[in-house]
Amino acid sequence: MGSKINKNQSKGVNSTSDNLSNEDTSKFEDGRKYHNVKNSTYFLPSDNEEANRLHLQHYILKNVWQSTFSAPVEHLLNQEGAKVLDAGTGAGSWLFEMATEYPKANFIGIDIAPIQSSHTKPSNVEIIKGNILERLPFDDNTFDYVFQRTLYVGIPENKWPSVINEFVRVLKPDGYLELSEADFKSSTMGPATTKVTDAILAMFREHGLDPNVCYKLQNYFEEHKQLHDVHCEKKEKLDSKNAEELRKLSTENYITAMMTLKPKLASMMEVSYDEYDDLIKKMGEELINLKSFNPQVRAYARKKL
Ligand SMILES: C[S@@+](CC[C@H](N)C(=O)[O-])C[C@H]1O[C@@H](n2cnc3c(N)ncnc32)[C@H](O)[C@@H]1O
Repeated sequence: MGSKINKNQSKGVNSTSDNLSNEDTSKFEDGRKYHNVKNSTYFLPSDNEEANRLHLQHYILKNVWQSTFSAPVEHLLNQEGAKVLDAGTGAGSWLFEMATEYPKANFIGIDIAPIQSSHTKPSNVEIIKGNILERLPFDDNTFDYVFQRTLYVGIPENKWPSVINEFVRVLKPDGYLELSEADFKSSTMGPATTKVTDAILAMFREHGLDPNVCYKLQNYFEEHKQLHDVHCEKKEKLDSKNAEELRKLSTENYITAMMTLKPKLASMMEVSYDEYDDLIKKMGEELINLKSFNPQVRAYARKKL
């Protein structure tokens, strides 16, 4: 099977670019690759190393929730030609897995800096390079299900309502919107974790980001005139059988992200790289010893008829 979706499938999609090798506008800093989109607040890299971290994060989140999504969309996903949008798709971890599980549906991932492997892309997936802070390149009422996860670094606090509004615009009546975000503050924090968290909070403030957005999703949905049937699920502690394994993996994942941010955070904290490494090592020990967990939230709602 070819990798492009056919004309009928892509109805409603105004701009397509299948393998994103088109016009690479990335920039390099400290040996890592980053997007170069001017109005974006997103400060994490977009390279293979980051793709591996995102795949691990997907595995962790799926296990924490014991599911890949929360909205009751199974029946939609099993319909021939159903359309699903994954906003800020990253390495395509969620997108590729969903597309494989639901082969009748067509999946579109949009990202400012897509980093998916074209070798593993299912044939019912299309990737579009695009910015969710702007008007989405899709017609009104295109998708049955719009999903977005972990974009709190990508969407400034004052942009959440307009981003949600765009998702609602491209959603079909009766379609579902699901957003999933985390509280980046751990439930219990030792001194090293507190120091690192304070520095990240300062970085959030500098970029106009909202560290508490996960707790506001439900409100954003309830305030939207075209949404109803609002649900919000929270995971406030790790209660699965493999909790210890997940805690170790989450800590590893968090340390990887913090090492990525070393040049920025060490300079903000006015510490040397050696001091920073030591702090991150202590933070890792604290997270394990204090059985810390970052609360997770999934909110979903339906577009009114
Ligand atoms: C933390 S990753 C999450 C990836 C994916 N949603 C997941 O859960 O595995 C955030 C992704 O959002 C993308 N992103 C950030 N700002 C964006 C924007 N304004 N428009 C589109 N994508 C954006 C980044 O490039 C990155 O791939």
